[in-house]
Amino acid sequence: MEFRTRAIHVGQEKCPQTGAVVPPLHVASTFVQPGAGEWGEYDYSRSGNPTRKSFETTLSSLEGGQGGLGFASGMAAIHCVISMLQAGDHVLAGSDIYGGTYRLLHQITQRAGIEVGLVDTTDLAQLEAAFTPATKLVWIESPGNPRLMITDIAAAADLAHRQGALLGVDSTFATPVLTRPLECGADIVMHAATKYIGGHSDLMGGALVVAEQRLYDELYFIQNATGAIMGPWEAFLASRGLKTLELRVREQSATAAHLASWLQQHPQVQRVLYPGLPDHPGHRLATRQMDGAYGAMLSFELAGDYDQAKRFAEATQLFQLAVSLGAVESLIEQPASMSHASYAAADRARYGITDGLIRLSVGLEAYEDLRADLAQAFTESFQDS
Ligand SMILES: Cc1ncc(COP(=O)(O)O)c(C=O)c1O
Repeated sequence: MEFRTRAIHVGQEKCPQTGAVVPPLHVASTFVQPGAGEWGEYDYSRSGNPTRKSFETTLSSLEGGQGGLGFASGMAAIHCVISMLQAGDHVLAGSDIYGGTYRLLHQITQRAGIEVGLVDTTDLAQLEAAFTPATKLVWIESPGNPRLMITDIAAAADLAHRQGALLGVDSTFATPVLTRPLECGADIVMHAATKYIGGHSDLMGGALVVAEQRLYDELYFIQNATGAIMGPWEAFLASRGLKTLELRVREQSATAAHLASWLQQHPQVQRVLYPGLPDHPGHRLATRQMDGAYGAMLSFELAGDYDQAKRFAEATQLFQLAVSLGAVESLIEQPASMSHASYAAADRARYGITDGLIRLSVGLEAYEDLRADLAQAFTESFQDS
């Protein structure tokens, strides 16, 4: 079946008891056992829940994986992966990653005696040189966050495997509509389901999908032992989100591409970072690695300083000033003070997260309205400068 059909039908079979076309929401925390010491498919909702299972099954099919796991948030999903490591291990992360992941790695993971290195994974020579004999995990985002840098997933997987490490890809920005990292050789794909999968700014969730049963078993063990599972209501909403994921992502990406071209011509914009633009350093790779569109996230550098960017981000009306992304509502933010405030200032400077950088999550509103909103924000925020 095609992607869109699987998004609606795999794992979402009708209820055998009632014929309901939408599988029922199972809120039970515990399940009656056939006998003492005998186990049915479900026994306790931390260990497994039918509504969560439906979501995990659909997402795993869309990513082409061997199995999926639903979590309470994107960070809980990443933490589960990190929990496979032990003291003395080394994790190599891309330099263009979500600020919360940076914080987890630098302020929690390191406490356990795990070494953390950041590297520009778009440069394969730099990536190769950054491995140590202790490297067990490479963690990337493509497109990256907030600069939308594109990493060659197949090449990174190859390098990681040659060094005996796993490759994990946070594919929140791309979604399985545009990139399927497991097909490129990655071992683990992760999503903040809070974003495009939910798609309506009304749920928190995370997910992992893996290429191999052995990895699934290990991650499942950690998830069950630590407990940050996705709740049934969130799983129900996430499954509903998956059904329209392709439509939303393609439509929002088309609007983002138009806005990127418009912004590129704007005199107050120094540089637009959008992989669909031919001058983006990852454009050719993105054309090969992404499936027919370049996503609905875009960033741009304003001609102006921190305060100018702050004024601009506060001047839009349709684009709401908020962290998060991936929903039908368009959002605007200043990474230096918001999504990437957890980066050390030196790392922000080093990796190009400038004070004048603005990040947009382009929603499902009409292009003309979004463009008009940005135009009025330019007029209003630059008038005194
Ligand atoms: C790319 C990316 N990964 C992970 C996360 C974390 O997800 P959550 O907020 O659901 O924990 C975010 C949140 O903004 C994100 O943007």
